[in-house]
Amino acid sequence: MDYFSNIEDTIKNKEEITIYNAISGEVKRNDYYTDKIKKLAAKLYSKYFAIFFIKLDFLRIFYELFVFSFSLYQVYTNNYSIGTAIVLIGYSVMITGPISYLNSILLNIKNSINAIDFLRELDVEEEQGEFLEKGIENISFNKVNYSVDGREILKDLSFTINKGEKIALLGPSGKGKSTIVSLILKDIPLTNGQITINNIDLKGIAKEYLYAQIAVLSQTSRLFPGTVEENLCLGKKGSNKEELEEMLKKFKLPFQLQYRIDENSANISQGEKERILLARALLANKNFVILDEPLEGVDLQNKGEILSYLKNYLEDKTAIIITHREEVGAICNKVIKL
Ligand SMILES: Nc1ncnc2c1ncn2[C@@H]1O[C@H](COP(=O)(O)OP(=O)(O)OP(=O)(O)O)[C@@H](O)[C@H]1O
Ligand SMILES: [Mg+2]
Repeated sequence: MDYFSNIEDTIKNKEEITIYNAISGEVKRNDYYTDKIKKLAAKLYSKYFAIFFIKLDFLRIFYELFVFSFSLYQVYTNNYSIGTAIVLIGYSVMITGPISYLNSILLNIKNSINAIDFLRELDVEEEQGEFLEKGIENISFNKVNYSVDGREILKDLSFTINKGEKIALLGPSGKGKSTIVSLILKDIPLTNGQITINNIDLKGIAKEYLYAQIAVLSQTSRLFPGTVEENLCLGKKGSNKEELEEMLKKFKLPFQLQYRIDENSANISQGEKERILLARALLANKNFVILDEPLEGVDLQNKGEILSYLKNYLEDKTAIIITHREEVGAICNKVIKL
């Protein structure tokens, strides 16, 4: 079961894993079980076992039908009370339950093996591309157009971000702010125009090199089911505990590092989730930082403090901060309005 939920987390969070260049780590994380499971599956899928399980399942259905009709008959002839019949049927299902459970496990194993093979393909897929030796010196949009389903989202957009600049990207909802981030991350191909990094066409830069330089908080960022520490550390290997605890304090997160976050972050508040995601992006400590609505999870009372922390943090970095809030402009030195 550990194996299945590991695989499921990996697939659900594939976007984060790619951006944080953590694919090979994920393959290793799952590898421990993979070989064992594959051997077991090979046995279970042998013709002999497959026929055995199909027979067993048929037998189970006949057995359950038999107990059900037998009990009903006994109630009808006044030998059993309704209660006795229900208990009998209940116990018979308890005996046969594991057989159908076994069948569902077989199906799960099959799906998981497909999933891990998919992950391996991602890992070995080598993209040729320019290595960003000196980090990101500049990013330029030259007359960039982007349309989706015939709908024009960005039209002739041109701007340059130079090393050390902090850009506030402002504009109404739906204007294409997050689209700009997706274009930089090569998640979507541009329709027309050109994006360059260090005057090299973005098309010629491998995603792996790109992600090694950029930390991202996107509107679709997710947390893994797992501890707060594991989630914070996706952005940085080998962070020390004091540094992580400092971040928890700074972002008003009332958790111990070992607190377990449930699936879909169901046991923490939306604001807490957004603050953990922000802390994770900052802990990655990359020189180029893209933050899409970083203040969404921060309340009015703590906004000033977090903004001044961000200002300090970004001092020697380059950043794009997307926001609806004009006050973010105060920590940036350039504003682009869409
Ligand atoms: N996957 C998609 N398929 C089709 N249209 C999309 C897709 N993603 C975004 N869009 C459209 O592209 C436009 C720009 O979206 P984008 O997410 O960039 O807006 P935004 O400026 O970030 O808005 P917000 O402030 O609400 O986050 C919107 O009109 C949106 O409906
Ligand atoms: Mg957006």
